[in-house]
Amino acid sequence: MEKEIEPMSTPSSGVTRDKEELSQQWDSVAAGWKKWWPTIEDAARCVSRRMIELAEIQPGHRVLDIATGIGEPALLAASRVGPTGRVVATDLSSRMLEIARERAMTLGVTNVEFMEADAERLDFPDGSFDAVLWRWGVTDLPDPLNTLVAIRRMLAPNGAFATAVWDAGPKARPLATLAMIAAREMFDLPAPLVEEPSRPGSVGPALAKALGHAGFPDVRVEEMRLTLEFASTDDCNRYLMDVSPVFAALLSDKSPAEQGEYRHRLAEKLRQYVTADGGVRIPNATICAVGRR
Ligand SMILES: C[S@@+](CC[C@H](N)C(=O)[O-])C[C@H]1O[C@@H](n2cnc3c(N)ncnc32)[C@H](O)[C@@H]1O
Repeated sequence: MEKEIEPMSTPSSGVTRDKEELSQQWDSVAAGWKKWWPTIEDAARCVSRRMIELAEIQPGHRVLDIATGIGEPALLAASRVGPTGRVVATDLSSRMLEIARERAMTLGVTNVEFMEADAERLDFPDGSFDAVLWRWGVTDLPDPLNTLVAIRRMLAPNGAFATAVWDAGPKARPLATLAMIAAREMFDLPAPLVEEPSRPGSVGPALAKALGHAGFPDVRVEEMRLTLEFASTDDCNRYLMDVSPVFAALLSDKSPAEQGEYRHRLAEKLRQYVTADGGVRIPNATICAVGRR
């Protein structure tokens, strides 16, 4: 294995109080991610595969996976880079990383190092990686530009950054959209802090522009579809409460009667996705992008 890639400073040393809260929120749903992993990954594996293809990850490559959650696409990349390559996978949440490490052990993967680190404070030396991956999250940053510039700096010449972000509009993530509509109908929620871009198709060009500003020439952007499948509409509700810090916070302190009413409203809104056997199939739209240093 190649020489260890050390960050130039301890990434977690300067986390703000907000970051502490953020990591606690993700810690609180880590067990939910483990529970729902087959559902998540059956839908999402195609996105990891495409990101790895777009980044042209090869045996022997050094790869960074930012905000890896419980370990993807890091573990898939680890199988691609093989014993001569190496993957560093970072996340803010120690509980997510614990589960990621368990998964790596179960799968017998030894060429991945998991590291607690804030995506906005990554400080690996210039040119440390042949590819950087980030499946879902870069557009959640308040100001992604500095982070994108840092990612580019950490890439070797001609190294690739491949990412997936959710598209905008009600068809991008219908479950979260409909669940939020039901919550707004029932509960007195504050207006969203950030006005989300609501025009479908607006996210790809905005991402390409941001990557261009960060110094990535010739960015390639494409849309992908992935389908989440559940056994019932009640499972959709349980899934949201288990994996989403937003819905966990929103619903967990509600009375049983309110939760029952909420489940009922959500089930009504999801009717268009219910199949003949009572299952639920929900199509989602994500944007994949790749830029080379
Ligand atoms: C939607 S999950 C995605 C996880 C994984 N990439 C996947 O696709 O399965 C978001 C992850 O981002 C992590 N995260 C959120 N903000 C972060 C930050 N500023 N730095 C590092 N990780 C962060 C969370 O802890 C969580 O594990």
